[in-house]
Amino acid sequence: MDQPKRYLVTSALPYANGLKHIGHLAGAYIPADIYVRYLKAQKRNVVYVCGSDEHGTAIPIQATKEGTTAQAIIDKYHPIMEQNFRDLGIEFDIYHRTSDPLHHETAQEFFTMLNNKGDLEVKETEQYFDEEANTFLADRYIKGTCPNCGYESAYGDQCERCGKSLSPDELINPVSTLSGKAPVKKATKHWYLPLDRHEDFLRKWILEEHAGDWRANVLGQCKSWIDGGLQPRAVTRDLDWGVKVPLKDAEGKVLYVWFDAPIGYISATKQWAKDNGKDWRPYWEDSETKLVHFVGKDNIVFHCIIFPVMLKLHGNILPANVPANEFMNLEGEKMSTSRNWKLEMQDYIDDFIKKENGGTQLADVLRYYLTQIAPETKDSEFTWKGFQDANNSELVSIFGNFINRSMVLMHKLCKGKVPKLHAAGLTELDNATIKEIQSAKERVEALLEEFRFRDALFEVIGLARTGNQYMQKKEPWIVAKQQGEDGQPTAQAQESIDNTLHICLQLCANLAILINPFLPFTARKICHMLKVVDKMLEWENAGKLKLLSVGYSLRPPELLFRKIEDEEISYQLEKLRSAATTRDDAATPKEKTMEENIQSATSLKPQIVFDDFAKIDLRVGKIVSAEKVEKADKLLKLSVDLGFETRTIVSGIALHFKPEEIVGKQVTVVVNLAPRKMRGIESNGMILMAEDPSGKLHFINPEDVINPGAGVS
Ligand code: MF3
Ligand code: ZN
Repeated sequence: MDQPKRYLVTSALPYANGLKHIGHLAGAYIPADIYVRYLKAQKRNVVYVCGSDEHGTAIPIQATKEGTTAQAIIDKYHPIMEQNFRDLGIEFDIYHRTSDPLHHETAQEFFTMLNNKGDLEVKETEQYFDEEANTFLADRYIKGTCPNCGYESAYGDQCERCGKSLSPDELINPVSTLSGKAPVKKATKHWYLPLDRHEDFLRKWILEEHAGDWRANVLGQCKSWIDGGLQPRAVTRDLDWGVKVPLKDAEGKVLYVWFDAPIGYISATKQWAKDNGKDWRPYWEDSETKLVHFVGKDNIVFHCIIFPVMLKLHGNILPANVPANEFMNLEGEKMSTSRNWKLEMQDYIDDFIKKENGGTQLADVLRYYLTQIAPETKDSEFTWKGFQDANNSELVSIFGNFINRSMVLMHKLCKGKVPKLHAAGLTELDNATIKEIQSAKERVEALLEEFRFRDALFEVIGLARTGNQYMQKKEPWIVAKQQGEDGQPTAQAQESIDNTLHICLQLCANLAILINPFLPFTARKICHMLKVVDKMLEWENAGKLKLLSVGYSLRPPELLFRKIEDEEISYQLEKLRSAATTRDDAATPKEKTMEENIQSATSLKPQIVFDDFAKIDLRVGKIVSAEKVEKADKLLKLSVDLGFETRTIVSGIALHFKPEEIVGKQVTVVVNLAPRKMRGIESNGMILMAEDPSGKLHFINPEDVINPGAGVS
C-alpha cells in the first residue's frame, strides 16, 4: 500500500476542569504517542496535536465548586495537564488551548462558512429564562420536583434520586439555581446541524468503506447511532462561556462545546504551523494526509459522526481511522471521579516518578502496563498487583535482565568492547536468532500500522525473551572455562563467546529501536549505555546486525528497571480504598452514574435478623481532639473519648468540618470494627454520619449530653 504523504494525529482535548486519570491516559494519549513515535522513527511527516478543552458548562460548574471564575479554572488546570503529559513522555508537537483567540477565530470562521452555505438550520424554541439573572438556563441550572418520584431537588436533566433522565419541561415547580426564582419560558433561537441530511453519506463512508479497517467497537457504536435515526443537533447554546456565535442576532449565545472543541485540532495545527514556519492547510485539506483521531469510548460518536459531517461540509479531509478504546476499570470497579475511585496521573507522578532519581524509568513502567492491558477490543482492568507483576516479571526479569546480562558479560568476557562476529563459526542457533531479529521487527511494524499496540508490545518483549533463551543455551560463561595453558579461553571458545555476545549486543540495540515508541525513556537509556546517539533509534536501523561496530567500547551497564516492592503496592491499594470509601466526595451528584443514583436512592439492603444487628457494638463518644491528616484532603484524625478508653479514629470528613469546630462534639461510634490503616494511621472504629441529599454530612448524636461509653441499641 502506498504510504500517505503526511499524517495528522490527534488525541482528544481533555476538559480543563480537573486532573485527569489513567483511564484517560490509556484511552487517548498513550496509544497516540506510541503511534506518533513510531511514525517519526520511520521519518514520516507527522504532526501530533492536542490541547485543553476549555469551554462547556463543565468549566463554570467547576468554578462554582472551587469558588472562583471559569478563567481561573482553565488557567489552573491547563498547565498542570500539559506538565502531566510531559512527565509521562507524551510528546505532542503542540499542546494548544481552546481559549486562545486563534481558536475562537477558527471556530467562528467554521460556523460562518457552514451557516452561509445553508448547511445549518435555525429553529426557535421556548426555553427557561431567569429574569433576575437575565440569562437562559442550562438544564443543570434548573431544579424542581421529579415527576417520577416526587423528589424536590431534581435537576433539569436528571433526577438524582430515582435516576430518571429528564428535560427541564418535565420538572414540576422549576426553580433557577442562580436566583432561586421560578424561571419563565422565553423564545430563543438556535442553530442546528441537520445530521439527518447526511445519513446516506455516513452509512456509505463508515459502514461500507471502513467496514474492513475500523475497530469493531467503533463500527458498532456508529451503526447503532445511524440505525437509531439521526436528528438535527443544536450547535449553539445560551451561555456566557465559550466561543461567541459570530452573528448579530445571536447575543448571549456561544457555540456548543462539542462544535468548537474538535475544531481545536485545526486551530492547534495552525498554531503549530505558525510556530514552525509551515503551512497548516495540507494537513486538513490534502487528501494525501492521513488523519487519525485517538479517543476514548465516550467520544466515538463525536469523532465518527458529528465532526466528520462538519469536516465534509467545510471542505476538509475526513479521518482515516478513529481507533477508540473501551473502558479501563480499576481494581474491579469502574473508574469514577465522583466516587474518587481512580488513579490520577498527578498522583502516579508524585508517588513514583518524582521520588526516583530522574524517575523516568517509572514513567515507562506505567506506559508499559497501560499498553499491555489497553482496552483495545473490550473493557480491561488495572490492578496494582498486575502493575507490579508486569514490572517485576517482564520489565525487570525479561527485558531489563537480558540487556543487563549482555552488557555485564561483554565487559567480563570481551574486554568492554563489541566483539567480532566470526561468520565461519556461526551455529544454527546463532543464525536462527539473527533471523528472528528481522522477523520480529516486521511483525511489530505490521501490528503498529494496524493500531494493535498491545500485540506489538508483546512481540517486543517476546524478542527479549528469545534473547534470554539464546544466551541461556549458549552459556558463554561456561564456554569461557575451556581454557588453554595461559588460563585464557581457547581460541575456539573465544570465537563462540564473541559470536554470542556480538549477537546479544546487536539484539540489545534492536530492542532499543523496537521499544522506543512504547518506552522512550528506556530506549534512550540503552543508547546511552551503548554509547550511540538517539539517531540510532530510527526504524530503518532495526532488523539488522549492523548497529554497533566491532571494537567499539561501551559504557558500564546500569539497571533499566527496579523491582516494585509489595509495600508500594499495598500503600497504593490502601490509598485508593481510603480515599474512596470516605463518603465526603467533593463531586456533585451529577457525576454519579444513573445506576449509582438509582441504587443509593431506592435500594434497601437485604433483611437481617436481630443477632446480626447485635454484633455491632455502638457507643456514644466525645471528640476530644481533631487534626488534619497530612497529604489527605479528606481525612481527619480524631481522638474519641469512649469512657473506657480514648481511641484514634480516622474519618473522611475533612471537607465538611474544620478540626476546631468538632472538638467536644458527641458522636456515635462503631467500636468493634476491625482496625484499619489509613495513610499509615491505624483507625480503631467508625463514626456514624447521615448524608443529606445535597451531600452534606451530619453527626448522629443523642439529644442530651450522655457519658461517653454509653451503649446505643
Ligand atoms: N473534552 C472532551 C472530553 O474530555 C473531549 C473533546 S475531544 C474534541 O470528553 F474533539 F472535541 F476535542
Ligand atoms: Zn425522581
